[in-house]
Amino acid sequence: MTHKTNAPIAVEVIAGEKYAWCSCGLSATMPLCDGAHKIAETEKRSLKFFPEESGTVMLCACTKTQNPPYCDGSHCQ
Ligand code: FES
Repeated sequence: MTHKTNAPIAVEVIAGEKYAWCSCGLSATMPLCDGAHKIAETEKRSLKFFPEESGTVMLCACTKTQNPPYCDGSHCQ
């Protein structure tokens, strides 16, 4: 199952923890990678990131952002 919305998804993050943002759009746990890119054999990979602050961040779910993993409004274009 793939995630169908293009809107960003709010995610609670903890400073210093490792997260893997899905850049292929195939993850069932968008916006975070669930390993689906390996099954699909896409060239895209997850982007590992470590938030500097704890709190809610808006992560890109359309995979078109120019500022991954964060939404930059590209889903509206
Ligand atoms: S499932 Fe999309 S990058 Fe891993």
